[in-house]
Amino acid sequence: MASALSKRSGAIVIVGFMGAGKTAAARTLALALGTTSIDADRLIEQRLGRAIADIFESEGEAAFRAVEESVVCELLDRAGPAEIISLGGGAVGSKRVRKALRRHIVVWLDVDPAVAWRRSGSGRRPLARERKAFFALHAARRALYDDVADAIVPATARQTLALAHPSLLALRDAPTGTRMVWALTPSREYPVWIGRGLVGSAVWPVAPPSRRFLVSDENVAALWGGRFGAVDGQHAISAGEAHKTLASAERVWHALVAAGMTRGDHVAALGGGVVGDLAGFCAATYQRGIQVVQVPTTLVAQVDSAFGGKTGVDLPEAKNYVGAFHQPAGVLVDPAVLETLPAAELSSGFAEVIKTALIAGGTLWDRVAADAPIDERLILDCIRCKLGVVAADERDGGARHVLNLGHTVGHAIETVTGYARYRHGEAVALGLLAALRLSGQEALREQVSDLLTAHALPTHASGLDAAAVIAATRLDKKRGPGGVPMVLVEEPGRVRHGASVDDLELERAVLELVA
Ligand SMILES: NC(=O)c1ccc[n+]([C@@H]2O[C@H](COP(=O)([O-])OP(=O)(O)OC[C@H]3O[C@@H](n4cnc5c(N)ncnc54)[C@H](O)[C@@H]3O)[C@@H](O)[C@H]2O)c1
Repeated sequence: MASALSKRSGAIVIVGFMGAGKTAAARTLALALGTTSIDADRLIEQRLGRAIADIFESEGEAAFRAVEESVVCELLDRAGPAEIISLGGGAVGSKRVRKALRRHIVVWLDVDPAVAWRRSGSGRRPLARERKAFFALHAARRALYDDVADAIVPATARQTLALAHPSLLALRDAPTGTRMVWALTPSREYPVWIGRGLVGSAVWPVAPPSRRFLVSDENVAALWGGRFGAVDGQHAISAGEAHKTLASAERVWHALVAAGMTRGDHVAALGGGVVGDLAGFCAATYQRGIQVVQVPTTLVAQVDSAFGGKTGVDLPEAKNYVGAFHQPAGVLVDPAVLETLPAAELSSGFAEVIKTALIAGGTLWDRVAADAPIDERLILDCIRCKLGVVAADERDGGARHVLNLGHTVGHAIETVTGYARYRHGEAVALGLLAALRLSGQEALREQVSDLLTAHALPTHASGLDAAAVIAATRLDKKRGPGGVPMVLVEEPGRVRHGASVDDLELERAVLELVA
């Protein structure tokens, strides 16, 4: 995790694997700010009067690392807030360098290993001669970058850092320990900050003169609304899924008009997934679209619903049937607000955590399966998984369907029970069990069932009308001529969407929940 030191006097330091484009990104950022950047590798070459590849060749890696450590530490120790520095990919391997990084804003330019390999090209770099070793090194270094990073930015376009710059600087005024992840979609890029104490802090992605209209629900407004100080208008809907309706949306629209909100103003959505979806939808449609800042206050919203831009309301016939894609201008995730969340709501969010971990696999699944505590790290890893999926398929054309794992049956259960009997996460918990049954994953289903039970989530739904649930799955928005495509799990980390499932099998999987 990033350090707890104040970042006020520090420089912006870019770290990341070879091929991430650190030098170019630093240069582009410096150019945008009218300054110059410093590249640590170039500095080393200038000092020694030789190319790094030569030093590697003649004296070996250890000798190079020793020189690198001393040059980089010297550079970091004197660097001030106006400086932009890029480090070589292996510099963070040194404990001394990691310590010297603590007072700076450290940006991890996160590059996919295949992209990095292509960019590092044909053995020109000493550590990029053999593909397998290159990929292994990439995997090994991730933990180091993660450990020092205050901000994680995907290494895609050169301009990204220049766009992200104000959000990086916001880390200087953020509560200690706050981290930022840069979310990328084709329609919009935005910052996601995560840190305890963010609600009510100076961190905000939209600057005046844009005015702020707060949308919340009655519970959250009473608990956390005051943290926002003076706002330019506000409306609190009644709490709960039963109020994620067009009628509530209409009330918000009228309140926006009454407060004189214009296209330049923005909505702050403070609440769980219900508020986030509804306020996002109101923002997407009010005067054909104004900005929305998501401030999620439930676990469901902090790990899932606040990101990715799906907004909307339910119809009595089916869930989320009216809506719009509308990416937020930014998201503030403050885990401290979960302290007032009722235990049952926290459990409900855990179902989305399990879903995300099944999709992500790897260390996230390992930690969730071992029942790791729900902390900033776990929330951040879920966020990064979701942002990665959305970046690949913003408008739900294919790859994003994996996020629907457990939701086909889950949504159907919510619909047939009038959005009143189960919390969203509880319905997802049941849906996950059905999906794992359909995936033929007996052992994994058992394991997930145990996790659900340990978190007081349902594994059975007695009294549920199975036929009605099956009929409701046929109304799923993703249905096509071949029926409702299901998301199935091959193993944690390998999830397949678009699977066609026999009606009889679906019936069996649902009946099993009811039994
Ligand atoms: N857009 C997406 O991508 C997406 C993804 C997942 C879920 N969702 C949607 O999210 C909704 C479910 O969200 P949810 O589970 O957050 O439910 P919710 O918004 O209804 O919140 C649950 C309850 O917790 C209360 N609450 C919220 N924050 C609190 C806090 N900090 N302290 C005390 N009480 C608090 C609320 O008032 C409410 O009573 C569903 O409508 C679902 O469709 C959307």
